[in-house]
Amino acid sequence: MEARPVGAAAELSMAGLHASLSDPALESMNFLNEVASRYPQAISFASGRPCEEFFDIALIHQYIDSFCDYLRNELGYAEPRLSQALFQYGRTKGIIHELVARHLAVDEGIHVDPESVVVTVGCQEAMFIVLRALRRDERDVLLAISPTYVGLTGAARLVDMPVWPVRSGRSGVDLDDLVEQAARARAAGLRPRACYVMPDFANPSGATLSTEDRQRMLEVAGQQDLLLLEDNPYGTFGNGTRLPTLKALDTGRRVVYLGSFAKTGFPGARVGYAVADQRVIAADGTVSLLADELSKIKSMVSVNTSPVAQAVVGGKLLENDCSVIKANVRETAVYVNNLSQVLDGLARRFPPESAGAGISWNVPGGGFFVVVTLPFAVDDTMLEYSARQHGVLWTPMSHFYGAGNGTHQVRLAYSQLTPDRIEAGLERFTALVADAQQRAAAGSARA
Ligand SMILES: Cc1ncc(COP(=O)(O)O)c(C=O)c1O
Repeated sequence: MEARPVGAAAELSMAGLHASLSDPALESMNFLNEVASRYPQAISFASGRPCEEFFDIALIHQYIDSFCDYLRNELGYAEPRLSQALFQYGRTKGIIHELVARHLAVDEGIHVDPESVVVTVGCQEAMFIVLRALRRDERDVLLAISPTYVGLTGAARLVDMPVWPVRSGRSGVDLDDLVEQAARARAAGLRPRACYVMPDFANPSGATLSTEDRQRMLEVAGQQDLLLLEDNPYGTFGNGTRLPTLKALDTGRRVVYLGSFAKTGFPGARVGYAVADQRVIAADGTVSLLADELSKIKSMVSVNTSPVAQAVVGGKLLENDCSVIKANVRETAVYVNNLSQVLDGLARRFPPESAGAGISWNVPGGGFFVVVTLPFAVDDTMLEYSARQHGVLWTPMSHFYGAGNGTHQVRLAYSQLTPDRIEAGLERFTALVADAQQRAAAGSARA
């Protein structure tokens, strides 16, 4: 190698850095945030953030106090152990694991040993540590119901684990395709380890799986020896009867359950968790819990989840009998109303016999997202145009697929908007659609 001049500045070649850094999945969130920051006046149907109406700084203090009362009165902590619990490095698997297990029992009918809960820095860390553990070598692949959450794709890229899409079909999961993809992977000498799925009000599709499909999915997972990675950040934000989670139906420890308090608590706390009650058998026959193996990885990623953040989430749980449903009655009402306003607003503006010809959308039962299918292609360039010319932001669905899919679809997130902003945003979106249709017609007339 040629000697470089003394004092020459370091330069790195992208080709010499981890492949994930050149992957569109890792650029996706930054790109969307960056467009939003350039057009602050635009009404955003792009971000699936919780509503901000009930944020209140005083609550943070109140929740910490409630959690300290719990440590004192329920767990018998005296000083200095109490201050140590919040100020010091802490237990890697977390300090609110008992409360998380109570919440799962109360809200989801999931009964797990608190020792199988790993409290993480958001659900994002839970996804990362689970995939890190499952990816032994280049033969391991992850199946995921497509379209899928971009944070999952990104986490898989970080651990060099290919994601194989499984068709969602009309019902939210095509179980024949799941079997076929697992078989194809095996035929190619690969090991399908798990399938990632959001059974309730999925991000981005809004789809919900029927109870029969959930049961069949567990059967297929057993037959195919797959784990199911169940991600459920939106499941409590529905307007009807709740269906059992996969984990509640799971009698064979097939499901690793991924939880987030970003929407049921608040995202700034960065608290999530994994429930990993699977047994891990070592070469010498000793048995451990997958949660304990995950905790080894976590100890080298984030050491432990901030106890201050856990105290805030723990306090919120304690004040609501460990029910996030109870804690979010007002928020759920906002989301449910926003959803019907968006659906009504689309129906009014795009009647099938006139302006809505070729335009359709799904009708989710809850969550944060609606998907609109358009008669013309949409992409990042059109998103920029939409922000600049029409003052409205949304997410091209292509961000949630591998190349070449979702080209005519947009995701509308309505969770953070007020009724006025939804109406104004839909007006702007309607103007964009008319504009794009005119431009498409003019283009085809010229061609
Ligand atoms: C499906 C899904 N999983 C996980 C997350 C990330 O959750 P957290 O903020 O707890 O990391 C999100 C956030 O939007 C999500 O939509």
